[in-house]
Amino acid sequence: MTTRTNDVVADVLAALHEVLERHQVTEQEWMAALAFLTEIGRADEFVLLSDVTRTSVLIDALSHAGDEEGATASDVEGPLYVEDPPVREGSPAKIYDEYEGMGDADVLIVGGTVTSTTGGPLAGAVVDVWQTGPSGGYDIWDDRQPEMNFRGKIIAAEDGGYRIQTMLPKPYTVPTDGPTGRYLEAVGQHPWRPAHIHFKVSAPGHRTLVTQVFFPDDPYLDDDTIGAVKPALVRPVERRGDHLGCDFDIALAPAG
Ligand SMILES: [Fe+2]
Repeated sequence: MTTRTNDVVADVLAALHEVLERHQVTEQEWMAALAFLTEIGRADEFVLLSDVTRTSVLIDALSHAGDEEGATASDVEGPLYVEDPPVREGSPAKIYDEYEGMGDADVLIVGGTVTSTTGGPLAGAVVDVWQTGPSGGYDIWDDRQPEMNFRGKIIAAEDGGYRIQTMLPKPYTVPTDGPTGRYLEAVGQHPWRPAHIHFKVSAPGHRTLVTQVFFPDDPYLDDDTIGAVKPALVRPVERRGDHLGCDFDIALAPAG
């Protein structure tokens, strides 16, 4: 084991043993806890559990405490990213197809410029986004939606500009039909997240940014079940003719 592993694991065990002693945890309770964690693993819900226990938010804060001034704030990635979404062409680049039962929602154009904190636009930066549809949540939860719906990569133009055509997302609940749902019920925590769009933005020579954009007046803005809302990431939405518009400029810090 490395020194780092030795140090951290020893402290984790000391903290765990202290809690078990303080609460006089029984053999039966401990076996129930191990069975629960086994179930979390089988359901592939460790990231979700980390999110709803606000552990992911803590790790994000620890990992980005030293981020460059002027860089866009990072946020939790969550468990719903899918690798290799399609590149979406055009400006705005539309990231969805209509589907039966999608219901009404406003078209939203999100756009801005990707720049380096050292100055200058980042032409060719990859802006990878994912979000829920107006009904039914993420494509991977909803058979009615085509694969990769409301997901896509947009390539920033020469001036660093990008524009995405999407629909205004709505608040949704994290999955509650598995062991994490039972956990939430047991501790009396609601499963709702405010509406948001996930971003993963990369450019050569720069640190990849994972973040989320939120919108004002959302009922769960102050009560996100994973606690991931940052004021700097709440972006105004305004009517612009037949659609809504939201500006989100992105600044990446150089790598290393
Ligand atoms: Fe999400």
